[in-house]
Amino acid sequence: MEKLKIAFFDAKDYDRESFLRANPNGGPGKNESQETPDGIDFELTFLETRLTAETARLAEGHDVVCVFVNDDVSADVIDRLSEMGVRLIALRCAGYNNVDIEHAYGRIHVVRVPAYSPYAVAEHAMALLLTSIRRIHKAYNRTRDFNFSLSGLTGFDLHGKTVGVIGTGKIGRVFIDICRGFGMNVLAYDKFPAADSGITYVPLDELFERADIISLHCPLTDETHHMINEESIARMKKGVVIINTSRGALIDSEVLLEGIKERKIGAACLDVYEEESNVFFHDYSNHIVNDDTLARLISMPNVIVTSHQAFLTNEALSNIADTTFANIREFLEKGYAANEVCYKCPDVASCPQGHEKKCF
Ligand code: NAI
Repeated sequence: MEKLKIAFFDAKDYDRESFLRANPNGGPGKNESQETPDGIDFELTFLETRLTAETARLAEGHDVVCVFVNDDVSADVIDRLSEMGVRLIALRCAGYNNVDIEHAYGRIHVVRVPAYSPYAVAEHAMALLLTSIRRIHKAYNRTRDFNFSLSGLTGFDLHGKTVGVIGTGKIGRVFIDICRGFGMNVLAYDKFPAADSGITYVPLDELFERADIISLHCPLTDETHHMINEESIARMKKGVVIINTSRGALIDSEVLLEGIKERKIGAACLDVYEEESNVFFHDYSNHIVNDDTLARLISMPNVIVTSHQAFLTNEALSNIADTTFANIREFLEKGYAANEVCYKCPDVASCPQGHEKKCF
């Protein structure tokens, strides 16, 4: 029987629950060893710490490390994992901007969960938008204090407004459908527009100029880094609402803050933040947060910040766990997996080796 040890970094209680539930013979407990029907004995270790160059040594003796969005999978960490004999990095998320994919090539395989619930993220984007423009966050606190005044809570209708959606992949498209349900006009920009989708694509500058609300749903790449910057904000309408549920560094946070202070930006709904890895997923309620930009953003009445929470639904967690186990099994059987992230080829279909043998 093959025994496979998996170390989960940055593991939270909800990760433990969903992965233990998805493990066929799962049950509560730490470091639990469970034999699956296909004879693979999965041993799961849940570590609260993030993966960094300093914590990588905790992966010693494990075959697989399972990581999330804020784990550091840079070249140095990859070298350490590979020296320890780790065979696979299993991302339990879709984005892989935190992994040095080029450096991983030839050293260690990387798999991801390309889709787990676009609805979770798109619905969260709309929840943030509604909360912000209808002042629900303010009203909630007021009525809890028996303050039933409506002063300062005036919002605006979404019906008839123009939303600009940047990135029309899985999540962007669900968000477009939701917006259409509200009677909004949808404009979109995508580097690779979807043919016959019925989506109205416009150049990026035109989207910035015409949209009342802008929602980001594209990946973080060198090209999209700080796509919301001084120049793009200058093009936008006064009072524009910006929603970011994608990756923090799509927005230059300092410039965003200036735009809010100058009253150019009407509201910002942020589920991600460019320096989030030092703060998000942790309880700092009793501490002094050193990030002045984040503190100032949070202090604004028209900014809502959630800490990378958009994915967090039961359905998404369950899909993440199922796909991660399936990725690991496929890798064990074939030496590669369909959800492998390779810097040489974007998907299995375009793999020059036809994935007939190991990718490297
Ligand atoms: P996807 O791969 O289905 O869609 C991404 C779209 O962006 C594609 O249509 C692609 O053509 C487009 N794109 C690529 N480069 C672009 C560029 N330079 N400019 C404009 N568009 C470009 O990805 P999906 O599943 O829709 O996810 C989108 C993003 O959402 C992910 O990259 C990830 O960063 C983020 N995400 C956030 C989560 C959260 O909890 N906040 C959870 C899951 C994903």
